[in-house]
Amino acid sequence: MTLTVDDTPFGFDPMKPGFRDDPYSVYRRQRESDPVHHSAMGIWTLTRHADIEAALRDQKLGHGVGINRAADHLSFLTLNPPDHTRLRGLVSRAFTPKVIRELRPRIQQRVDDLLAPLRGAGEFDLMSAFAYPLPVIVISELIGVPVEDQARFSGWSEEMARGIDPDFMQTPEQLVRRDEAKLEFDNYFRELIAARRGHPADDLLTGLIAAEQDGDKLDEQELLDILALLLVAGHETTVNLIGNGTLALLRNPAQLAFLRDNPDQAPAATEELLRYDSPVQFVSRVALADTEVAGASVLAGEIVSMILGAANRDPDAFPDPDRLDLTRQPGRLVSFGQGIHFCLGAPLARLEGQLALAGLATALPELTLVDDRPVYRDHFILRGVSALTVSA
Ligand code: HEM
Repeated sequence: MTLTVDDTPFGFDPMKPGFRDDPYSVYRRQRESDPVHHSAMGIWTLTRHADIEAALRDQKLGHGVGINRAADHLSFLTLNPPDHTRLRGLVSRAFTPKVIRELRPRIQQRVDDLLAPLRGAGEFDLMSAFAYPLPVIVISELIGVPVEDQARFSGWSEEMARGIDPDFMQTPEQLVRRDEAKLEFDNYFRELIAARRGHPADDLLTGLIAAEQDGDKLDEQELLDILALLLVAGHETTVNLIGNGTLALLRNPAQLAFLRDNPDQAPAATEELLRYDSPVQFVSRVALADTEVAGASVLAGEIVSMILGAANRDPDAFPDPDRLDLTRQPGRLVSFGQGIHFCLGAPLARLEGQLALAGLATALPELTLVDDRPVYRDHFILRGVSALTVSA
C-alpha cells in the first residue's frame, strides 16, 4: 500500500521506508506541529502524553465499529463494560499478582538455562536464541501448554500478532494466515480444554475452566478467545521488551555497564526501557457518542488513535525524553495503557523483563552489537526487530 501525504491515516506514513528505524523524530514533529491530527480518513491521532492519558480514561471512547476484525477474537481487549468487566474479572481471579510472584524462581531458571550456552558463543541472533523463546516458555507453562507443543503455539502467536494491525494495513495473504492461525489455535485448545476437564492440573487453563462469578461460567468460545488474547498480548509484547531493551542498552554501553554493576536496579531499568522504546506503540478507540477529545469535537463512530510511543517521549512528561537514563525517576509511562484496559499482564511482563535484562547484563558480560542496523518486523502496533545479531 502506498500512501500520499494527504491520505496518511495518522498524519504520518508508518509504511514509509526508514520510519521504523526512527519513528520518534516523526512523532516529535507531529506532536509539536499537529498534536490532535484529523486525517482525511476520519481518524484522529493523538501524540501528547496528557491528551493520551485523558483519552484512555475517557469512558466515551471504547470499542465498537472496528478497524480490525481480528480484534473480535481477542476477548475483552476490545469489549466495553459490562462484558469487559465480567470477562476481565473472571481472568483476573486466575491471574493474580500472587500467581505471578510465585513464577519468579521458574522464570529465573529459564533465563539461566537459555543464557548459559550463549556465553562465549561468538555471534548469534539474540531474538531467536533468547528474546523469542523465553516469553513463549513462560506463557505456555503458565497456561499449561505441554512443552512438546510450544513450537506450534509460537507460530500461531506470530501470525495472530501480525494480524492485530488495522486490516487496511495488511495484505489479503496476511489476513488469510491470521484467520487460519486462529482456527488452528482454537482446534488445538478445544482438545486441551477437554483433556483438562477430565484431569484438572495446577495451571491457568484449569483455573479459567473453573472460573465462576455469580454462577456465570465462561463458555467455550469465550475461553478460546481469552487464551488467544493471553497468547498474543503476552508473547510478542514481551519478546519486544527484551529485544528493544537489549538494543537500547547495547547502543548505550554506559547504561549497560550500570545495569551489569547494579542488577538490583533492574526494576527501574525495565521501566525506563519500556518508556524509551515501547513494545506497543499504538492503541485505538472509537467514540461511542459525540464527545470532546483534547479540545477537539469528535463525532460518534470516529476513531481516535493514540501513539503511546509518542506520549512516552513527550518532554512535558519526561524531561530530556530522548535520553536513555536507567536511573530516571519512574514517571507516568503509558506503555501498558491506562484506565479499564490497563494491561492485565503488566506484573508478569515487568518480572520477565527485569529477570531477562539483568540476566543478560550479568551472564553475558562481553555482549556487543554486531549489526547496528537491525531490520524491524513489519508491524505497526507492535514494535520490534526480527533479528538482533550480537556477540558474547
Ligand atoms: C512488555 C510487555 C507488554 C506490554 C508493553 C503490554 C501492553 C499492553 C497495552 C498497551 C495494553 C492496553 C491495550 C489497550 O488499551 O487497547 C495491554 C492490554 C492487555 N495485556 Fe498487555 N502488555 C504486555 C505484556 C502482557 C502479558 C505478559 C500479558 C499476559 C500474559 C498481557 C495481557 C494483556 C491483556 C489480557 C490485556 C487486555 C486488558 C483489557 O482489555 O482489559 N500483556 N497490554
